[in-house]
Formats: sequence, C-alpha cells, structure tokens
Amino acid sequence: MAILVTGGLGYIGSHTVVELLNNNFEVIIVDDLSNSEKFILNNIQEITGKKPIFYPFDLRRKELLHQVFDAHTIEGCINFAAYKAVGESQEKPLDYYENNLFTLINILQEFKNRNISNFIFSSSCTVYGQADKMPIDESALLKTPESVYGKTKQMGEEVLKDFANAYHSKICLLRYFNPIGAHPSSLLGELPIGVPNNLVPYVMQTATGIREKLNVWGNDYNTEDGTAIRDYIYVVDLAKAHVAALQKLMTNTSVETTIDIFNLGTGKGSSVLEVVEAFEKANSVSVPYQICDRREGDIEIAYADASKAEQELGWKSETTLQEALKTAWNWQKYLETKTN
Ligand code: NAD
Ligand code: WQD
Repeated sequence: MAILVTGGLGYIGSHTVVELLNNNFEVIIVDDLSNSEKFILNNIQEITGKKPIFYPFDLRRKELLHQVFDAHTIEGCINFAAYKAVGESQEKPLDYYENNLFTLINILQEFKNRNISNFIFSSSCTVYGQADKMPIDESALLKTPESVYGKTKQMGEEVLKDFANAYHSKICLLRYFNPIGAHPSSLLGELPIGVPNNLVPYVMQTATGIREKLNVWGNDYNTEDGTAIRDYIYVVDLAKAHVAALQKLMTNTSVETTIDIFNLGTGKGSSVLEVVEAFEKANSVSVPYQICDRREGDIEIAYADASKAEQELGWKSETTLQEALKTAWNWQKYLETKTN
C-alpha cells in the first residue's frame, strides 16, 4: 500500500515525503524535475535512511502515470505538482492551466477507474483574495484570484469537489498561507530559480549579497508599520499537517463523500518589516532595504484562523518566525557550498 506524492521533490513535497517516511508510509514520487533537482532525492534518503520510489516524468503523460498505478497498490495521493510562479502565470496562462489542471485530472481519472479514495490537494490562501475579516476561516467567501496561478488553484478545488460528489470519494483541500524555512538538517529547502518573487528567498539573497537591496513593496498600507501582513508558516510544520490530514482521510471508513478543507497557517500575521527584523535577529546579518511603491495585485493583510486544523487534525504550527528564518539561512549557506 503506497501513497503517491506528485511533485515530491519540490519544496513542500520533499519535506512532506520525509514526514511520511518517518511515519512509515510507503512513498512513490512522480516529479518531472521542472522545478527541482535529483540531489533532493538523495538528501531525503540521507535524512530518513529510506529511499522512496521515484519516477521522473511529466504527469501530463497519461500512459506513464497509468503504468505507475498498474505497478503499485496506491491508496492515496498528495498532489503537490504544479507551476507556482504568479508573475509567470500571467505571461503563460495556457501553460499554467494545462499543467496545473490536466495533471490533476489525469490522476483523478486513475482514481476513478480504480476506485481509489484519499486525495489531498495543495491549495492556497490566494483563493480568499483580500478577505473581509481577519483571521480568515474556511467559511470566508472565495474571491476570483488576481492571477492565473490563483485561478488554477480555485478551479482545482472545484474539480475536486465535483469529483468527490460524483464518485463518493474522500478529498482534502489544504489552503497554505505563506510557507517559509527549510529542513533542520539543511538538506532540503526551496530552490531559487531566477529572481525570487517571494519575500523570504529575496531577503536571503539580499543578505548574501546576491541582491543589493530588498524592495519593500509599499509602506502605506493600513497596518502598524505600513507594510503588508502575511501569515508565514514553517515548512516542516506544514509538512506534518499533510500526514495528519492523510491519517484522518484514511481512518475515515465511511462510504459517504468527504470534502475536508483546512487552512494551514500560524494564526499570526507579520509585516514585511517584522520579517526583515526577525531575519536579522535570527541570523545576525543585515538586510538592506528600500521602500518602493506597492506591487500590483498585492493584498494588504492575510492571516489564518487555523483552529479547525487544530480541532480536527490535532495539528498546529509550532515553530516561531525567527526559528524558521534561521533554518532558511542555514539552507542558503548549504546551497552556497554546493555551488562553490
Ligand atoms: P515546487 O515548485 O517547489 O514543487 C512542485 C514540484 O512539482 C516541483 O518539484 C516540480 O518539478 C514538480 N512538477 C511540476 N509540474 C509537474 C508535472 N507536470 N509533472 C511532474 N512534476 C511536476 O512548489 P512548492 O512550493 O513545493 O508547492 C507545492 C504545491 O503547493 C504547489 O501545488 C503550489 O501551488 C502549492 N502552494 C505553494 C505555496 C508556496 O508559497 N510555496 C503556497 C500555497 C500553495
Ligand atoms: C509577501 C509580502 C509582498 C517580495 C504569494 C503568492 C500566493 C501564495 C502565497 C501560493 C507581500 C512583500 C515580497 C519582495 C516585498 N502562494 N514583498 N518585497 O504575496 O503573500 O503571495 O505566496 O499559492 O499565490 O502570490 O507572498 O512572498 O510574494 O510576498 O516587499 O521582494 O512581502 O509585497 O506583502 P504573497 P510573497
């Protein structure tokens, strides 16, 4: 009995594979390495002492996916595989709709044909847009996301709800807030490709001198220091939530349709300048920055009410912002040793 982890060599996927292996799940990874590298597989093995089965192919290749399902008894899937760059999604909308939705549909076809249940989907707080009240709970109104990327997440949720209703399946939609940090071993983390869009990778590259200054996008928001607020969740905590969600789905023996939705965040908002300060304190480095105009499409404030995950999954975030930012910096230093 195995769990299929698509995108299992990616940032959140690789951390989740470690947690699954540590909890004695058999793991099968499909990842086309479009946003990862093979050494991540070796590092997963170094951390856990176990080597997951790995298939390097694009999930849009239905025939290869079919063979994986033929070769293994798959009991569930955690579907991380997707393209995730917000800016790029505006420039290449068809690539994003195709990759993020066809891959999902291909896996669900196999699930339907083989009568498999237990599906976990990586969704995002982006589906809430600028919510009317904070903290955001799962019943908050969904708004059409600004980006094509965000729309693929909202559409993915709809596909899955229809799938669950039609075939009496058990699905779980996990809406991540802002994942940050790296594995405490420093062997896993987010791989930077090009100029980072996200705050923490940009902060790290500024601290190392790859970037001259951090551009702080706007200090005229209606927040205490004027900079925008997000809920930064440590990636290992996030990974653990997947194991809890999977265990909940798998121990639910009811034949009824199940659609679980959970916010995964810390419940606490931090401003851009608070993140910079926490990074500087955690790592005793300085991060030069300049205040710039707001970034188009940004919202002012988003942080989670994650109490449903605590009540129903027995999960909550445990790691502080500073601790998480320390692991991020250690990962950056590890990457430098690899490239030197
Ligand atoms: P990531 O890019 O690091 O990982 C995704 C992995 O999927 C990569 O290893 C990539 O090679 C693989 N992949 C992509 N398309 C594929 C395909 N067609 N076939 C096979 N493999 C494919 O991204 P991540 O940050 O780990 O995010 C994982 C999931 O969580 C994504 O679905 C993302 O949209 C979602 N998410 C991420 C964030 C975030 O800020 N990182 C926030 C909310 C939701
Ligand atoms: C955080 C804050 C920026 C970079 C993204 C995706 C969203 C979801 C979560 C996946 C904002 C500010 C950033 C910089 C800055 N991901 N910032 N200078 O905007 O919450 O959303 O991650 O589903 O879809 O869009 O995250 O890390 O880009 O920005 O001032 O160089 O940091 O303006 O306030 P965001 P982020």
